[in-house]
Amino acid sequence: MAALADPPRAVLTTSSHERLEQQLANRYHEPPSEAQYLGLSTHTIFDENYAKVEQQTRCLMLSHKQLASIELILENEFKRGLHRDTNSVADIKMYPTHIRDKPQTYKILGHFAEPDEGKFLALDLGGTNFRVILVELLTDNFHMENEVYSLTQKLTTGPGSDLFDYIADCLVKFVSKHNLQGHRLPLGFTFSFPCEQESLSHARLVTWTKGFTCSGVEGENVTELLTAAIKRHTDLDIEVMAVLNDTVGTLVSCAYQNRECRLGLIVGTGTNACYMERVNEVHRMHPGDDEQQENNSHDAHDHLHETTVVNTEWGAFGDNGTLDFMRTKWDFEIDAASADVGKQLFEKMIGGLHIGELSRRVIVDIAINMKLLFHQQPKQTSCLADSEKLFHRRQLLIEGKLNQKYSLQSKYVSLIESDPVDRFENTRLALLESFGIDWASDQDCALVKMICARVTTRAAHLVSAAVACLLNKMARPHTVVGVDGSMFRYHPHFRSIMAKKTKELVRDQFRFQLMFSEDGSGKGAAIVAAVASKQRRISMEMLRNKQLENISSCS
Ligand code: GLC
Repeated sequence: MAALADPPRAVLTTSSHERLEQQLANRYHEPPSEAQYLGLSTHTIFDENYAKVEQQTRCLMLSHKQLASIELILENEFKRGLHRDTNSVADIKMYPTHIRDKPQTYKILGHFAEPDEGKFLALDLGGTNFRVILVELLTDNFHMENEVYSLTQKLTTGPGSDLFDYIADCLVKFVSKHNLQGHRLPLGFTFSFPCEQESLSHARLVTWTKGFTCSGVEGENVTELLTAAIKRHTDLDIEVMAVLNDTVGTLVSCAYQNRECRLGLIVGTGTNACYMERVNEVHRMHPGDDEQQENNSHDAHDHLHETTVVNTEWGAFGDNGTLDFMRTKWDFEIDAASADVGKQLFEKMIGGLHIGELSRRVIVDIAINMKLLFHQQPKQTSCLADSEKLFHRRQLLIEGKLNQKYSLQSKYVSLIESDPVDRFENTRLALLESFGIDWASDQDCALVKMICARVTTRAAHLVSAAVACLLNKMARPHTVVGVDGSMFRYHPHFRSIMAKKTKELVRDQFRFQLMFSEDGSGKGAAIVAAVASKQRRISMEMLRNKQLENISSCS
């Protein structure tokens, strides 16, 4: 009696985590061909099942025409967010920051301003981890050290005071580990959520995103919450000089290296972008700014050329239904099962928080409802051992991890897609570790890989449409786009797909360059803190000189 042939299994020699990290580090760099992404000839295994799945997942593919119309809709949403009359009803809020570019003067914080030298701290909160970073800025370069602290679900969904106490606690540990006691430590706080920026160092959380739901923080000034928590834990001399979004940190840190950088993009747990907008276009500036603008009439000409960083918060794109024409049933399902139904719909199609889950939902549909995956039949089933095996496999599909929400993490999607054509070692490892499935045939693996590729390609194409929209809006001959985030960093093809599609969507006369910014968001916060420190020092020196002048003119 022929026994069920077991397909080759993933051999786990090192610890699975190390192995995964290693696989991601040695990822398959060669960009895939268009045909691969269309799922037409990715694998030599091309049969009836493959054709059926290919057909069922076509709704995840966006045509050039669809992407161009998404870009147009987004442009209109940006306008609504920028304008005072429509801002309150706009989904994309276009938050002005207090980071301006006004060369020739130190009074306004130009993002090109030279920061002070010295040691600065940065905190980075907004993804799956929390980081404390020490940045030492030197004349020509900088030195960075950082520690990563994990965030439990209890912390991200419990009382806000617990979260801020935890942050302060990590900070104290970091300071003691790096022997920083006794130093005055200016701090930049990267807080990656939608905030109304009241000043450079004060921001009020509008609403949580990315699954955070801590109570007592929405509507509050996060700098005050952080400062109070620090005071509860230590008497260290730490002053919050700046609070900024991760997109802004990325823009600032890239601009520090390349002055053409005018756009900061994050494709990580969530997605968002900020860009430099002409001040006179930002009708919804802070009330204080408006006054300042009107009073400074002598500045009128300068003002026309002045730009400010606008945090778009484009994750909320589509919340008013404008993207429903391209959302699939899997997108609707993800949203319906989320803690913030109807919110962050664009982000839910792109961010690393959801990419694994989106892919899993498609896989479940194909495997359980359509029975086109993991259902390999043995030639003969009269052998008792084979029938038991089959029964066990079916149970596992329905009752096992495959059917558990969020059991496929996005890092495994990256791993699956890093398999070269017709080789499935990584895919088998991902299926085993995520779902406990160890019987996938080559055909199953090819299908899983195609599904993942369609989900991530759609994400990359959506980001491309949004980036192209900003580049066309800025209308600059050459713009550097600073990018950070785990999807961009770890996915083997995200970057190349995005670069290609953005180029197709941007008008011919505007050129751009994607600049990957490793740890840009944290580094940017330290740089802004350093610039703010320098400004304060200069203002104090000027005040002192003035006082001295007054004294000498009196005597
Ligand atoms: C979410 C946040 C946004 C952040 C982005 C990337 O969209 O609302 O502030 O920039 O995630 O982390």
